[in-house]
Amino acid sequence: MTSRQRTLFDRDDVSTTSEVELRTVMRFPAFKNISNGDLFSLSLSNNTSALTHGMHRFAAKFIPQIPAWAIEEFAEKSSTVLDPFCGSGTTLVEALHRCKSGIGIDCDPLACLIAGSKTASVSPKRIRSLAVALERAWTVPATELTDPMPGIRDFGHWFSKDAWGWLQSLRDCVLALEASETERRFFLTVFSSIVRWVSNADDQTQKTYVSGTLKKSPPAVVPVFWKALRKAESALGQLQEWRLRDAEAKVMCGDAANIDIKPESIDLVVTSPPYLDSVDYMYNFMLEYFWLGPLLGVKDKTQFNGMRRGVIGAKNPASREVPLLPESSADLIAEEDVAPARLLATRMYCHMMGRHFASVGRAMKPQARYVLVVGNSQSHAGALPIHDMLIRLAADAGLKFERAFAYRVRRHYMKFPRKGRGGIILMDWVIVLRRASRPQDYPPRLPIPNVQLGHDEVAH
Ligand SMILES: C[S@@+](CC[C@H](N)C(=O)[O-])C[C@H]1O[C@@H](n2cnc3c(N)ncnc32)[C@H](O)[C@@H]1O
Repeated sequence: MTSRQRTLFDRDDVSTTSEVELRTVMRFPAFKNISNGDLFSLSLSNNTSALTHGMHRFAAKFIPQIPAWAIEEFAEKSSTVLDPFCGSGTTLVEALHRCKSGIGIDCDPLACLIAGSKTASVSPKRIRSLAVALERAWTVPATELTDPMPGIRDFGHWFSKDAWGWLQSLRDCVLALEASETERRFFLTVFSSIVRWVSNADDQTQKTYVSGTLKKSPPAVVPVFWKALRKAESALGQLQEWRLRDAEAKVMCGDAANIDIKPESIDLVVTSPPYLDSVDYMYNFMLEYFWLGPLLGVKDKTQFNGMRRGVIGAKNPASREVPLLPESSADLIAEEDVAPARLLATRMYCHMMGRHFASVGRAMKPQARYVLVVGNSQSHAGALPIHDMLIRLAADAGLKFERAFAYRVRRHYMKFPRKGRGGIILMDWVIVLRRASRPQDYPPRLPIPNVQLGHDEVAH
């Protein structure tokens, strides 16, 4: 298969364009009114953490407007929507409002816990009565402190004795509640949502570390937990009103490169796949894993470290035997141009994403759409054109490129000085693919728009 070099865009192919205007919109237009290569500035005056969306932090969540748009465009009430990299479950929450069935897959057990609780079919009334039982039981901190996961060194580095004691007794009381599995997981998700906050670790970054320069005074566990629980319970109430009657979301812990779903059963896929060596999701949740890992099947620190190397996009993949970069990427990236330290990770990423597209393609109905969101990672020298690469890997698996558009979010309530930060910037691309019956030709590469960041815009 050869790639055509001619561009469909009226801008230069793969070069920085002269400065272009973004079209400001309050919501994305209908697909039929979007042209390939359109650039939007999405103006959001409301926040993006309504319903259960804000129940738990999660790196690289996408904004709910993306799955909402895709589901409205390409699905019906009777549809089954799949997010094979579901992370914290944004797609599934949006699907509950519009379709009878949502399926999420993620290989990270904590992500599955969060996504499951954010879409749980649990009555807020029941959560309230369990909260009353918990309040009666959880009255003192544990006095005999034990490491919650075998293999952690110096747990006291991460938590004060006070926080450790209260978290330990809280976890034990939640485990002792007379609750269903789903209800208990809901409480554990709220537990998890406060762990970083009450720890000594920095709150300002996703990475888990205790800052030597920015001294933190963590808040007390008890009021923080009750506040988070009240918020989660009210979010659940909103979700119950909003979801379609009988709508269900199912979350499966599994590998998106080897999907275990009935062939030709999925009407729409909406997802944001992991990037190549960018976010280490499990490392970001290290403290949450210390507390909950053994309950989620991650028995000790060694297993935790091993799992971090098994995800798609891992910096340091566990496997040493990885096929070379696919032929399809030959004119996008040459092996000799990749820094030796990144070569294995890059090969592994392409290999796994190729397997993912083949696997998900089999689960999709003929003509079903696959909408993926991926950042423009060409913003700094030496970065790889991941979005072009993904389009080609998908084409090899019989997913035909239809159209792509890019967006940035403009938030009215955020005002950062952005002086001097113009030039090539991060845009998120929304790429729409459609299942065909055989491998597809490659479309022209996506352009890199040269747009100035406005004072109230964020590139995420
Ligand atoms: C960009 S995040 C998705 C975020 C999600 N859209 C949200 O709003 O929360 C990518 C996810 O892919 C997951 N992932 C990485 N490798 C995977 C694999 N082999 N199978 C399934 N999920 C995987 C990561 O654990 C992470 O949760």
